Amino acid sequence: MQKLIGPITQLLTLDNLLLKGALKDEKLEILENAGILIEEERILEVGSFLELLKKAKALNAEIIELKGDFVALPGWIDCHTHSCFGGTRARDFAMRNAGKTYLEIAEAGGGIWDTVTQTRKLTETELANRAVENANRHLSEGVTTIEVKSGYGLTVEEELKMLRAIKQADQKTTADLIPTCLAAHMKPRDFEGTNAAYLELIAQELFPILKSESLTNRIDSFIEKSAFSPEEIEPYYQKAKDQGFELTVHADQFTAGGSKVAVKYGAKSADHLEVSGEKEIELLAKSETIAVALPGASLGLGCAFTPARKILDLGGSLAIGSDWNPGSAPMGDLVTQASILATFEKLSTAEVLSALTFRSAAALDLEDRGKLKAGFLADFNLFPTENYQEILYQQGKLKPEQVWKRGKKT
Ligand code: NIG
Ligand code: FE
Repeated sequence: MQKLIGPITQLLTLDNLLLKGALKDEKLEILENAGILIEEERILEVGSFLELLKKAKALNAEIIELKGDFVALPGWIDCHTHSCFGGTRARDFAMRNAGKTYLEIAEAGGGIWDTVTQTRKLTETELANRAVENANRHLSEGVTTIEVKSGYGLTVEEELKMLRAIKQADQKTTADLIPTCLAAHMKPRDFEGTNAAYLELIAQELFPILKSESLTNRIDSFIEKSAFSPEEIEPYYQKAKDQGFELTVHADQFTAGGSKVAVKYGAKSADHLEVSGEKEIELLAKSETIAVALPGASLGLGCAFTPARKILDLGGSLAIGSDWNPGSAPMGDLVTQASILATFEKLSTAEVLSALTFRSAAALDLEDRGKLKAGFLADFNLFPTENYQEILYQQGKLKPEQVWKRGKKT
């Protein structure tokens, strides 16, 4: 059964925008008095509402007539979250603001390890339910595709529990969850052996199960002084690549080094990049690796933002993720974070909208979403406004009135 939704005051297709480089707002394709004709979970056509009305009638399609002004945009795609976790780290946040360093907090029992302890206490279903709660909140704000990382289990069994929980959560929410294995988040404190030995164990014992249970085809790591060095991650990534996994990296957050590994191993994305310098940015910009800015982590930690303007000006591709996690990015409001990044980094509306949609889809290697065009998934948001510029201007406060996922109103 086909459906026609409209009339829509402004429909931004985001079609014909390049995957890489700076984007001027004049390049945005804006259809006025538009409609979206859908069949099952996909878009059949976008265009003039009156023209589509004729087609819809001929097809005997259901006509869903909108009253008032609406702006239509593709569903947001959050390509980087840790939204499956146990407990809270409110204490870390307060301690950081009271002047404690990350290391002092870790020594006092905080940091990633604290969340690992709290996550390990939950059953797979309890954990799945937490992830569903977060996914549903994101979905209500228009985020229709959400990447979710493991990385708070840090043993073969506990990482499996997390990834099975994410799989379970995907069945329980209307949003699409894209799982990623982040067993290389840090060496767990209860592992007796070197970083290299831990990574070897993960590659040997966990990787084959990820494949056999179809838990994920994406491998992530945290390349940082407190986690893993580039030299430790390289053989790990080689093994992952040899087994056909796609790669992504937590890179250049506090010290540079990860972005080089990302480019060398052809990672789909290099995420964070707060301290990337000219050299790192140039390398990324020349590559196919998408740079992912995570303004939520800058806001949560009080650190500099990713040099997004420079990345785009040098010809790189920029996506924006929320990094939603209990430690560094507890807010999880993607649009608020993106519009704040835009004011500090001077990003055009076209650049931000692209970073939240098709460029973010590319970071996840998804080719069927992020634009409003024939053949793409009917994932879209209807904002109650006559002007698309209101969305970023209101810094996340203007929520979509309707969120459509795979051709269904949620
Ligand atoms: O992306 N940087 C490493 N990992 C997360 C933080 C995770 C945590 O603190 O729990 C991040 O910011
Ligand atoms: Fe992260």
